[in-house]
Amino acid sequence: MDVALVTGASSGIGLAVARRLVEMGYDVYSYARDHGKTSFRHARFHPVDCDVTDTRVLLERTEALLRETGGLKILVNNAGVGFFGPHATMAPDRIERMVRTNLVAPMVLTRATLKHLEKSRGFVVNIASTAALNPGSFGAAYGATKAGLHQFGQALFSEVRKSGVRVVTLYPDMTRTPFYDQADFEPGEDPDAHITPECVADAVAQAVDQRDGTVITQIVIKPQRTQVVRKGPSQKEMD
Ligand SMILES: NC(=O)c1ccc[n+]([C@@H]2O[C@H](COP(=O)([O-])OP(=O)(O)OC[C@H]3O[C@@H](n4cnc5c(N)ncnc54)[C@H](OP(=O)(O)O)[C@@H]3O)[C@@H](O)[C@H]2O)c1
Repeated sequence: MDVALVTGASSGIGLAVARRLVEMGYDVYSYARDHGKTSFRHARFHPVDCDVTDTRVLLERTEALLRETGGLKILVNNAGVGFFGPHATMAPDRIERMVRTNLVAPMVLTRATLKHLEKSRGFVVNIASTAALNPGSFGAAYGATKAGLHQFGQALFSEVRKSGVRVVTLYPDMTRTPFYDQADFEPGEDPDAHITPECVADAVAQAVDQRDGTVITQIVIKPQRTQVVRKGPSQKEMD
C-alpha cells in the first residue's frame, strides 16, 4: 500500500488533497492540531495530532509513522498560516509563526523523510502560493515564506533528481478556504474569481500520476479574473 503524508489535512486545500489521494488508493496520514474541524472519515485516512512548529514533536511523530508504515511515497507540505497588513504593525510572534509553519516545518519534515522518498522514488509536493512569485503590499512576511519554499523546492530538485525523487511546487492564487477567516479580505464569490481546494487537489493528482521519468516541477493556478472583497458592513471590491 502506498503511503502519503499531508500536513494540514484538517481543512481547506490539505483536506481536498488528502481526500483525492485516498480516492487514488493511498493510505493518507495528516498532521494537524485540530482534526475535529473535518467530518471526513475513511479507513485509509489517519489523522495525527501534530503541531508542525514544534520540531521535537514533528520528528517524533514522523519517526513513529515511518516505523509503522515502513515507507512513504508522497509528502505534501501544505500546512500554512497567513497574516496580512502593513509590515510596520505585524506582531513579531505572527511573523515567527508564519516562518515556522510555512518554511521551517517543510524543510525539517522533508529532511526527516527524504531517505524513504529516495527508496520509493517518491514525491515532495510543496504548496507555495502565487505570493512567492508576485511580491505585493501587505503580505511581505507571508510572501517571503512562500518565496523561500519556492527556492527550497527548486534547489532540492536539482539535488535529489538523480536519486529518483520528484519535487513539485504548486502556486495557487486565492482559494476559498478558512485561510481568510482572520483576514479583513477574501476572494470574491464569483466562481470566475477564485479557485477551489479541489482544483489544487486535481493539480496534485496530475503531478503524482506522471510516468516515471517525467516531472511536473511547477504548477501555477489562477482564477479567470481577480476579485478581492474587503470584509465588513460595506463590502467593497478591490480589483
Ligand atoms: N487559501 C488560499 O488562498 C491559498 C493560496 C495559496 C496558497 N495557500 C496555502 O495553502 C496551504 C493551505 O491553506 P488553506 O487555504 O487550505 O488554509 P486552511 O483551510 O486554513 O488550512 C490550513 C491547514 O494548515 C494547518 N496548520 C496550520 N498551522 C499548523 C500547525 N502549526 N501545525 C499543524 N498544522 C497546521 C491547519 O490545521 P490545524 O489548524 O488543525 O492545525 C489546516 O489544516 C497553506 O500553506 C497556504 O499558505 C492558500
